Amino acid sequence: MKFHIQTWGCQMNDHDGEKLSGLLSAEGFEAVDSVEDAELVLLNTCSIREKAVHKVYSELGRLREEKQRRPLMVGVTGCLAQQEQAALFKRAPHIDFVLGTMALKQLPRLVAEAQAGKARVMDAGEYPDNHLFPPSVTRRRDTAKALVTITEGCNHACTYCIVPTTRGAERHRPYEDVLAEVRGLVARGYREVELLGQNVNSYAGGCTFADLLERVSEVEGLEWIRFTTSHPMNFTKDLARVLVTNPKVAPFLHLPLQSGSDRVLKRMLREYTVAEYLERLGYLGEGRSRMALSTDFIVGFPGETDEDFEATMRVLDEVAFDSSFSFIYSPRPGTPSLRLKDDLPLAVKSARLTRLQQRQSELTRASNERFLGREIPVRIETHGPNEQGWWLARSGEWKTIHLAAGPGRELPFGELVRARVTLASPHFLGAELV
Ligand code: 5AD
Ligand code: SF4
Repeated sequence: MKFHIQTWGCQMNDHDGEKLSGLLSAEGFEAVDSVEDAELVLLNTCSIREKAVHKVYSELGRLREEKQRRPLMVGVTGCLAQQEQAALFKRAPHIDFVLGTMALKQLPRLVAEAQAGKARVMDAGEYPDNHLFPPSVTRRRDTAKALVTITEGCNHACTYCIVPTTRGAERHRPYEDVLAEVRGLVARGYREVELLGQNVNSYAGGCTFADLLERVSEVEGLEWIRFTTSHPMNFTKDLARVLVTNPKVAPFLHLPLQSGSDRVLKRMLREYTVAEYLERLGYLGEGRSRMALSTDFIVGFPGETDEDFEATMRVLDEVAFDSSFSFIYSPRPGTPSLRLKDDLPLAVKSARLTRLQQRQSELTRASNERFLGREIPVRIETHGPNEQGWWLARSGEWKTIHLAAGPGRELPFGELVRARVTLASPHFLGAELV
């Protein structure tokens, strides 16, 4: 059977897609690049905001038509599957099976049952070993950086967030297991890993997250370690120390702030004030100037006043984030913030978002300009130049690099090369091979 997996959402979901792909490949199924060529389509969904959910339903609509023309099996996995469970069959009766985020290994069984003619097959149970996934099965996409699960789930309770529902409570993978997977990856040629969890900072698989970073960094041949994502309240001094002193830990930190107003943070149940957030960034000391900082913002949270929003703009400037992701608040089913009055006109929310993003774009340009003329290590992330003749690469600070290598020059995929930065735009750095 030929299958195609379409994934939306975060790196955690990306990596689940790699695991699901491996499970099907182990059954002798063949991965294909397009829906048209597939006999089984798996929608690996995200439900973080309404827009993400819309995308899934519109794809499901397209698949219903496709299914009228030819035999096709449709499965839904990921966060929307976990959230909606059997309700998905009502909304889209052409779905053959629904697989929750904590039951990944049940995929072959569900496919077999659907193949045997059973209707509305579902498993949205919580399997305690979901995070203990055999690395030999995972079928990774062709990327220079390998994704590695260290924890699943989240024990925080931010009032806007669907993730505690869709990913459950925290489960941690023992550090020996993580180390074994990283060693295996390096043996297969990977030089960079990204440690994944809804909240990696709270890692408790036999050591702290700071210790885990140190241990992983001792794997010979590994060059860069990244991690995603972090909660400010679990960001410790130890972790900050490792981040600024360990040369293998990439100089990049994504630390979601969400709002610059204490009143809003309180209603979000973020568990910190702006002062506490800044104090934690302060743990980085002078090492911070060598790093890139990134964050997330939600604008238009219920009850956000002009004053609250101005406070966010002030913190944005004060920290001068190198990059940020910002979103208009999206009410999610079953979350506590649904009970808050959300009466701000969309036009006001949009105007705030635009202002924030424009300011961020200036800050990002300034951050990029700091790199002009510098010689930096970058990892080649494509197998050849694009139509404009650029090779795409990434710096340790997670900057996108458009690299000019000279005509006919072959650059080794996944390797670190030295580059001199010659151009800074808000979205990328242009560089020449040294
Ligand atoms: N509405 C808007 N943005 C949200 N995020 C999470 N939940 C919501 C929501 N209900 C944003 C947060 C988070 C990022 C991954 O998505 O900023 O850090
Ligand atoms: Fe989307 Fe959050 Fe689920 Fe990731 S964990 S797929 S961002 S809802």
